[in-house]
This record gives sequence, structure tokens and C-alpha cells, in this order.
Amino acid sequence: PVLVVDFGAQYAQLIARRVREAKVYSEVIPHTATVDEIAARKPLAVVLSGGPSSVYADDAPQLDKALFDLGIPVFGICYGFQAMAQALGGTVAHTGTREYGRTQLTVTGGTLHDGLPETQPVWMSHGDAVTDAPAGFEVTGSSDGAPVAAFECRDRKLAGVQYHPEVLHSPHGQEVLTRFLRDIAGLEPTWTASNIADQLVEQVRTQVGDGRAICGLSGGVDSAVAAALVQRAIGDQLTCVFVDHGLLRAGEREQVEKDFVAATGARLVTVDAKATFLGELDGVSDPETKRKIIGREFIRSFEGAVSDVLGENAAQGGTVEFLVQGTLYPDVVESGGGTGTANIKSHHNVGGLPEDLQFKLVEPLRLLFKDEVRAVGRELGLPEEIVARQPFPGPGLAIRIVGSVTEDRLATLRQADAIAREELTIAGLDNQIWQCPVVLLADVRSVGVQGDGRTYGHPIVLRPVSSEDAMTADWTRLPYDVLERISTRITNEVADVNRVVLDVTSKPPGTIEWE
Ligand code: XMP
Repeated sequence: PVLVVDFGAQYAQLIARRVREAKVYSEVIPHTATVDEIAARKPLAVVLSGGPSSVYADDAPQLDKALFDLGIPVFGICYGFQAMAQALGGTVAHTGTREYGRTQLTVTGGTLHDGLPETQPVWMSHGDAVTDAPAGFEVTGSSDGAPVAAFECRDRKLAGVQYHPEVLHSPHGQEVLTRFLRDIAGLEPTWTASNIADQLVEQVRTQVGDGRAICGLSGGVDSAVAAALVQRAIGDQLTCVFVDHGLLRAGEREQVEKDFVAATGARLVTVDAKATFLGELDGVSDPETKRKIIGREFIRSFEGAVSDVLGENAAQGGTVEFLVQGTLYPDVVESGGGTGTANIKSHHNVGGLPEDLQFKLVEPLRLLFKDEVRAVGRELGLPEEIVARQPFPGPGLAIRIVGSVTEDRLATLRQADAIAREELTIAGLDNQIWQCPVVLLADVRSVGVQGDGRTYGHPIVLRPVSSEDAMTADWTRLPYDVLERISTRITNEVADVNRVVLDVTSKPPGTIEWE
């Protein structure tokens, strides 16, 4: 792999993603990794990430010069650029002047910027500056605050930039990173969806052998792609379990039962638990109580199905050893690094399995980013409706009904949600929206007029948000004509709804969901 050494910047994961967008596999490692540990990974190249603003800072992480004796191509970014300059005998001046945000880079030569605009905007975030490049390096760019803003030494396959090529505010950044990988490091662009899928299928085969596996499908992207990969690897040794709790959106069960099965040929068990869930939720309007009931019943249903599958296998003289989970790389990195040594939390997407069942986890997506998961899903032939699906909460429509949950209310919300989703898709807005919860204010009524008569119906709330990771979000400025179409259709087509309102709250202070 290309190893991205994380000097503590929030950018390390993004750098790894950008390297992979250049079709070269990369992983993040902590800066505490020793040169021996790095060498043992046999990296094709090393990228040093940004980090604290100064190499002179008290607790600035150190860079071991021995890294440069390995003959491995190295690219330094921001702090990594300065640390590299210092380690190789250049000068980093403790200027104290800061350059932050959009800055003009003046290109003075070199491979990385060859043919790109002579002055170009780049995203900077630094205090100190490199004033002398190490011996043998060509200075290839400068800015007002950084006399040496980029350098390279092609002979030794070393280069670096003071700015952040990985952020979109550096419009040529991806090209510069790609050129480092291709033209300086000499790497082949082999990290493609079809290669990834092939490799993962092979790995699952090796791990599972002729064992049996079980996978809980949530209807979401990750579990669907994980299941599809494992299905391709081991066929009918995999059983998928899908709990229909009656709180799904229009078409979701069909998506799993028809489209997913048609695309993958997976063996699927659906648990029809609608009556149980609605019974338990009867009369409950407190959000936390709803969530607890749903969590508990979900585990019960899943356990029941697993016991059935286990029972069937036991009857045939076999056991189920493996549980498939759709854990992704960001979760792995955030819980202690991707190198497999640190404490990696296992995600209990399906939660609370009987404790005496010791499943081994199969996590085929644990080294992938979300966009790669989607690409692999497409490669495996999953339909776009599944692969491009927006996030949807486990407790489903129950937490989008403000008030108690009834079958009628679910039907009303389901219909309004389907209209909103359809119109957003037709308008081509799916890519701009992280997700758009549609909420029924079941305990609120307002007066309206329709035809000749007075109505006294419920409001529907549209909550379109834009976000990178759901931790923070902004409300999406949807075009008025799209809002108008959604509003008109919902009030005309959905009985009991006479008003559509738009939620214009960011997160924080509002959460994305209403409950
Ligand atoms: P909030 O409402 O906390 O939501 O801003 C953040 C993201 O998480 C989703 N969400 C859930 N997903 N189980 C899930 O699998 C849940 O209980 C749950 N609650 C919220 C929400 O849709 C948004 O994407």
C-alpha cells in the first residue's frame, strides 16, 4: 500500500481517500509507527500528512530521518512537508506569521505542477515556513508566506507541498497528488472497483473456507454490499436475514426481497415482525421509549431467525461459524488505526446476539471508504436504488412520526415520503442531498381549505440536509420549484395532510432526525 502517516491532522483519512481516487491503494498509519514497522509493510510510497502548525511546537511529533534511507518515494504535505525539509537538511524558519485559507501559489517549475496554471489557488494552514530546500531539491512553487511552498527531487523520488492538495479548495490538488504517485513514485493505477471486488471475494473465500455464514440485512448500502461480496465468495454457505418491522419506507422490503436477491442470488430469510413491533409500540409517543422498544424487538427477531438458521444447520449436522458485518474503514481508523494491532471496536450493527454464540466476524468492507463500497456494489451488479441509497435510521419511520405510531399514520408518512423521494430524484438532486427525512406531525393539526371545504389535517415536514458525515449538517437550499411540486403533490395526494413545511435548521442545534 501507500502509507499515509497521520501526524494528527483531521486530513489523514481524506489524503488516503484521495490516493485511492488516484487508483492506488492506501492506508492510514499513526505517526508513532517506527521506520522498521513502516518498512515491514513494504509500502509503495509514504505520504506524510499535515499536523500541528509548527515543527517547533513542544509536542510536535518527530519524523525519523531513517525513513529517507529506505529508498521509498515520500510525499510531504503541510506539516509533513516541513518535517521532511528539516530532516533532509533544509531550513524551516520559525516565522510566526500564519497563512491560513485560500492562498495564491506561484509555480516555478517541476514535474508536479508542470503545465498547470502559473498562479493557482491553494489551501494553506501553517505558521512556520520552509526558507531553504534541502540540497538536491528543486523549488517548484512559492507563496507570500512560504518562500518554498513546494519542492521535489525526482532522483530520490521525494517531493512535497506546503499546501493541502487533498482539499477541494486546492482545485489542482488531486492532479498534483496523482502526478506524484504516477510520475515520481512510478505507481500503476490498479485500485479499481473490479480489482477490489476480486481481491475481497478471494479473501472471504480464504477466511470462510467451507464454513457457514449469516448476515443481517438492514436495507442499507453497507450490509447489502457486504452480503453481496460474501455471496459471490461462498454462495449458499451464506444465509441473509432481513427483519421487516413494519416501519420501512415504500418499496424497501421489495428492494431487498426482489432486487437484492435477483442481483446476488443470495439465500434470504425474511422475518415478518410487523404485528409484534406495532403491538409493542401501541400508544407510545416518547422518542427514547420508541427507540428502546424497537432496539429490543429487533434483537429478539434477529435472534429468533438466527436460531432457526442454526437449527436447520444443526439438523444437517453443521454449524454457523461466521457473522458478516458491514464495518467500514473510517470506523476502523477511528477506533485505533487500520493496522490490525490496536483495539478495533466491532460494530454491533445487529447487536445483542446470544452470548453463547461465538461468531467469527467477516468484515469484507473494513478497509473501504463509503464511495468505494458503492463502487464495489455497482461492480457486483447491485441496483442503483440500493447502492445510491441515502442513510435511513434503524428505527425507521417510527422516529419520523411525532406522536404514537399507528398503521394509518405509517401509511400516511410512507406515501408522503415516497412522493418527496421521487420528486428529488426526478429533479436530479440526490447527489446534493445527504438525506431528506420526511416527518409527520401526528399530534399537530391545522386548519386548511381544499375544494369547497374546511380541512383539519396534519403537517408534513421536509428536512433536506447536506452533510459529509452526519455529525454536522446544513439544511439544503432546494429550488423553490421542486419544493412546490413536492408540496402540491403531498397535499393533493395524501389524505389527512393539508400543509407541508420546510425545516431550515442546521445541525447543531437541530439533529437531522426529529426524534
Ligand atoms: P441525528 O438525528 O442524530 O442523525 O442527527 C444522524 C444520522 O444518524 C441516523 N440515525 C440513525 N441511524 N439508527 C441508525 O442506524 C438510529 O437509531 C439512528 N438515529 C439516527 C440519521 O438518519 C442520520 O443519518
